[in-house]
Amino acid sequence: MYLKREFIVRHPIVVFTVGIAVGMCLIKIFSTPAAIDPFDTYTAQQSSYGTDTASHNELIDDAASDREVVSHDHLYDNTSLSDQLKREVRVLCWVMTNPSNHKKKARHVKRTWGKRCNILLFMSSAADEELPTVKLDVEEGRPNLWRKVKEAFKYVYKHHYNDADWFYKADDDTYAVIENLRYMLYPYSPETPVHFGFKFKTFVKQGYMSGGAGYVLSKEALRRFVVDGIPDPKMCLPGTVINEDIEIGKCMENLNVTAGDSRDVNGRGRMFPFAPEQMLIPNKDPNFWYWNYLYYKTDDGLDCCSDNAISFHYVPPSLMYVLDYLIYHLNPFGVIRAQRLPAKLKVGEFLPAPKEETANSNEDSMDDYDRLGKTATNKTQTAPDAREVD
Ligand SMILES: *[C@@H]1O[C@H](CO)[C@@H](O)[C@H](O)[C@H]1NC(C)=O
Ligand SMILES: *[C@@H]1O[C@H](CO)[C@@H](O)[C@H](O)[C@H]1NC(C)=O
Ligand SMILES: *[C@@H]1O[C@H](CO)[C@@H](O)[C@H](O)[C@H]1NC(C)=O
Repeated sequence: MYLKREFIVRHPIVVFTVGIAVGMCLIKIFSTPAAIDPFDTYTAQQSSYGTDTASHNELIDDAASDREVVSHDHLYDNTSLSDQLKREVRVLCWVMTNPSNHKKKARHVKRTWGKRCNILLFMSSAADEELPTVKLDVEEGRPNLWRKVKEAFKYVYKHHYNDADWFYKADDDTYAVIENLRYMLYPYSPETPVHFGFKFKTFVKQGYMSGGAGYVLSKEALRRFVVDGIPDPKMCLPGTVINEDIEIGKCMENLNVTAGDSRDVNGRGRMFPFAPEQMLIPNKDPNFWYWNYLYYKTDDGLDCCSDNAISFHYVPPSLMYVLDYLIYHLNPFGVIRAQRLPAKLKVGEFLPAPKEETANSNEDSMDDYDRLGKTATNKTQTAPDAREVD
């Protein structure tokens, strides 16, 4: 393992080739058109079935499909904290997929972020030995998504209720940093009725979680959903519709399962319904539906996103490998961040909301250009920004 790294370092050709490959990926990523058709995206956001906005990476993705991407471990890393979290905050991940995506998308989830879950399940309507899949008795197609979500959680409750503390649903084009999911959940009791995700403020009074960013249910939330919710038409919609995320959001509210706040202490988001570059370099068009749907206002640039971000959506397979490299391998020499775990909360207790002003004033991710912009314009004197309309 260690030798492999030595080999790479000592062979300029390898470094050059890897450099070109990563460079090409980055060019591809950053050449994504910033503007996304709102309606297309909104529907696509509901599932992994939509005409995906991420098809710009098709060529690279096809090449990535059949070959295993060679990886290596870092045997000398100190992982004692993340090992502790893996034991204490057990996360079952289940990934919504379908037969045509098994090879195109789902297998890349398994080879990248999915392997870090305590338990990883792929929910589909067809068997696949490589993943493997849980073969649910539902028809494929977007109108069946709500039924599929219900069947998936019923399966999880029946077979794995005691094997995990938290239950995370993601799509096959979601990318998640499971260590950071565990870190966010660490203070909470799994017996607290709560779920977390990227929160939208429309359709459901307490907000509902974007399907694409994925949402995580506490053990108690899962129990309420399967035992008290699904069988009761007054709690959860029977039958099926496309918008699984809105429906489970309504259902959670009826079951008194709190819509948790997934932002970090600085008020920066951790779970996102778009790919990283779309969050970092935001679309300023105030007519873009997103700005009117989000529950918490978000800041621009690096202030958009927590240093402990958890999930992104519309991530094509090639970007999954790039993110895996950037997050788990590339490391600026000599920089080690101090990390410690927060105190635990009691059942039913929640962390206080982050203070709004800290997000913009936090020095560690503000550069001089930002500072200039912030002091030169008094926000209240300029036209209101759609994101600040509540
Ligand atoms: C690894 O990190 C933990 C805490 O993060 C620390 O207590 C321990 O001493 C470290 N181990 C080594 C070998 O550095
Ligand atoms: C939810 O809470 C309300 C108010 O406390 C209560 O009236 C209702 O019975 C609860 N519903 C469920 C399903 O627990
Ligand atoms: C900005 O606007 C607020 C609210 O109207 C006002 O109290 C404050 O003095 C203004 N600051 C500057 C620097 O103009």
